Formats: sequence, C-alpha cells, structure tokens
Amino acid sequence: MLVFKAYLIVSALALHVQAIALVPRATALPPEAITVRRFPDGTALENLAVRKDGTILMTSLYTREIFYVDPQNPTNVYSIAIFPPGDTFTSIAEHGDDMFYVVSTSFQPVNHTPTSADTEKVWRFDMSQYSGSGNTSLPLTLVSNVTRGGFLDGLTSINGTGYLLVTDAEQSLIWRINTVTGAYDVSLNSSALAPIGTGAVLPNGTVGTNGVVYRAPYAFFSNTHKKTYGRYVVDSVGRAVEGSLEILGNDTVIDDLQPVHGNGLGAYLTAPIVNQIVYASGTGQTTPVAGVGGPTSVRWGRTKQDRNTLYISSTGDNTAYAGVSDPAAVLDVGRSLSKIELGSSWDDWRV
Ligand SMILES: *[C@@H]1O[C@H](CO)[C@@H](O)[C@H](O)[C@H]1NC(C)=O
Ligand SMILES: *[C@@H]1O[C@H](CO)[C@@H](O)[C@H](O)[C@H]1NC(C)=O
Ligand SMILES: *[C@@H]1O[C@H](CO)[C@@H](O)[C@H](O)[C@H]1NC(C)=O
Ligand SMILES: *[C@@H]1O[C@H](CO)[C@@H](O)[C@H](O)[C@H]1NC(C)=O
Ligand SMILES: *[C@@H]1O[C@H](CO)[C@@H](O)[C@H](O)[C@H]1NC(C)=O
Ligand SMILES: *[C@@H]1O[C@H](CO)[C@@H](O)[C@H](O)[C@H]1NC(C)=O
Repeated sequence: MLVFKAYLIVSALALHVQAIALVPRATALPPEAITVRRFPDGTALENLAVRKDGTILMTSLYTREIFYVDPQNPTNVYSIAIFPPGDTFTSIAEHGDDMFYVVSTSFQPVNHTPTSADTEKVWRFDMSQYSGSGNTSLPLTLVSNVTRGGFLDGLTSINGTGYLLVTDAEQSLIWRINTVTGAYDVSLNSSALAPIGTGAVLPNGTVGTNGVVYRAPYAFFSNTHKKTYGRYVVDSVGRAVEGSLEILGNDTVIDDLQPVHGNGLGAYLTAPIVNQIVYASGTGQTTPVAGVGGPTSVRWGRTKQDRNTLYISSTGDNTAYAGVSDPAAVLDVGRSLSKIELGSSWDDWRV
C-alpha cells in the first residue's frame, strides 16, 4: 500500500508537468479530484445528472437503483428509485423542469453482457415528488419501448424540444425519442458510431457510441473503442443535419464526456483505461487533468457556486471496467462521487 501511494505521488507530479508543458497559459497546477462521497465496495456508479438546485442523481448498475446526494452535504445518500432484477439503469438526464429520464438495459454483472430482448427502454420520473430526504421508490413511467435497440447507453435532452437522444453502444446509431408519443427512430446512423471488438462489453468488447451530451446546436458523442469523440448538428426535431458530423479527438478510450461551457470544441473525457479525467481541445491535444479510478461520467455543477466544478461518477474497484489487473491501482478516488474544481487560471479550458 505504501509503495502504491508513492507511485501515485510520482504519477501526479508527472501529470502536472505534462499539463504545464501542453498548456503554457495555465500557470497554476491543475486541481486534484476530491472525493465528495465514497460508496461501498462493488458499487458501479454509471452516470449522473445535476439538478438545478445542485443536488445530484446517480445511476448504480449492479444495484439497479438511483441515488440522490447533495454534494454540499454528502453525509446522507438516499436511494430514490429501483428496478427489479433483470434490467438496470444506464444513463440519466433532465428534460423539462425536474422531470428526469433514464434508460434501462440488461447488464449481467458477471460478464457485462447484455441479456435478452425487451430490456431497452426509456423511463420518466418526477423529482418534484421527492421531499429531499429518506429512501423511497419513485414511480417510473415507461416512455418508450425501444425494441429495435441493442444496448442503450448514453442519454441527453434536446433542450427546448420534445426529444431525447440515446446512444446505442451495440449498433451504429443514436436514437431520437419523442417524449410525448414514445415513438423512436434514428437521429444519426453512421459508421463513426460503430462498435468494434467482440465478446463481452468490457473491457475490450463491443461498446461503440457511449456518451452523448447536447450543447445547442450540437450533440457531442463518444465512441469508446474507436477512441473518438465528435459532434453533429441536431435539427429542431432531433435529427442529424446532413454532412454536419465532425470527429474532434481520436486518441483516448472514452466512456462519457462533458463539452466545455460556451461554443468551443473542447470536452472533458472520462478515460477508464488510464483512470483519468482528460481534457481534449478538439484540435488534437489532450491533457490529463486528474486521476479518478474507473471514471464513468462527468457533468458540470449548475449553481452559481459550482458551475465551474466537474462532478464525476466512478466504478472504482471494478477492474474489468478500468482495464487494469491491480485493484489497488484504482482505489484512491473511485467508486465515488468526486469533483474537480477548476480554478480561475483555467479560464481558457471552460469555453
Ligand atoms: C437508504 O439507502 C442507502 C443507499 O442505498 C443505504 O445506504 C441506507 O442504509 C438506506 N437507509 C435506510 C434507512 O434504509
Ligand atoms: C415492448 O415491446 C415488446 C415487443 O412489441 C413487447 O413484447 C413488450 O411487452 C413491450 N414491453 C412493454 C413493457 O411494454
Ligand atoms: C434549457 O434552456 C433554457 C434556455 O437556454 C435554460 O434556461 C434552461 O435552464 C435549460 N434547461 C435545462 C434542463 O438545461
Ligand atoms: C443504418 O445504416 C445502415 C447502412 O446504410 C443500414 O443498413 C441500416 O438499416 C440503418 N439502420 C437503421 C436503424 O436505420
Ligand atoms: C484488452 O486489450 C488490451 C490491449 O490490447 C490487452 O492487453 C488485454 O489483454 C485485453 N484484455 C482482455 C480481457 O482481452
Ligand atoms: C486523429 O487526429 C489527428 C489530429 O486532429 C489527425 O491529424 C489525424 O489524422 C486523426 N487520425 C485519424 C485516424 O482520424
């Protein structure tokens, strides 16, 4: 364990040196990832959504539930929605005031392989029904039964429309979901979204397009095993505008991503193999920001106090996910909600 800590310090220093070399304007050292709330061993936090009031909802793969945490006061974690065995939640996003949507898939903890059909769905629940304390089981309303779906993974709201986008990690597709009628069809069908590899989903398997985040007028997406992220222009009914697809980065195995504030090409990437949050400029440079074991998702805070804070969900000790053989190597900041507070000297990294 002591040897392990020493290794961490050395690699943290190495990261700082590299960051300074690549980004001369960043005079201060990049901030570290700080654990906000640690979860029990074996927890696989998959995705997170930040509410307007700053509280955070997280999906948990193996326990098939949604956790509620207030990052300003993380003593209590509440379980607010749960699925019966068989299905689990992957991603979560707000669409409409305090209305949250989640995608469900099947996911076997042992080999990370999706099970049979009739599991790929989109659900809704109403957070205004929740008091803010105590465990509960909020009612989930089925919105769309995506029977042609392979492995629904990422989810985002096309703010201002009735549509959601959902990545299909097993097919070369991003679906658009009509939240009013439940109808679904293709937003983007492109080889840029295709999975590569064979066998189980993780660590080297068939995950193609994974994360998706809408930042008007673009949908930013990651493709895990192509090591790419990119974006395309989405029209007012959730369809890809022909010819608008751009690949912005191609050298990091990425789970999820968070575009910078504003209109830039840059994004923060969760990089599971190297257990880091990586900043990608969108023009070819990548810079490691901070180490997090098994990072799965990253989102900006939404209050005045934390709008330049990145919140990160992680699987921590899930070595299959992290792609490493030594469990200790992913334990330091992992299986947790953690955060990175970007300081003022990192201004140019936000836009
Ligand atoms: C509420 O849920 C959390 C998270 O699963 C759990 O740790 C806690 O023990 C639960 N509390 C009660 C009173 O059941
Ligand atoms: C989803 O659609 C399939 C195929 O039509 C059907 O068998 C299944 O019962 C539907 N599930 C739900 C929950 O409506
Ligand atoms: C949707 O966009 C409007 C206008 O930009 C903004 O006020 C609102 O907060 C956005 N909602 C969400 C959930 O992002
Ligand atoms: C996606 O495009 C491929 C190749 O053009 C086509 O074979 C496939 O049917 C399309 N998928 C959907 C769901 O439209
Ligand atoms: C995954 O791929 C890496 C790099 O190619 C390889 O070293 C590792 O053995 C593979 N793991 C499995 C379980 O196939
Ligand atoms: C990867 O990105 C770099 C920098 O943008 C570019 O020069 C290179 O052609 C790209 N490679 C592939 C295979 O797309």
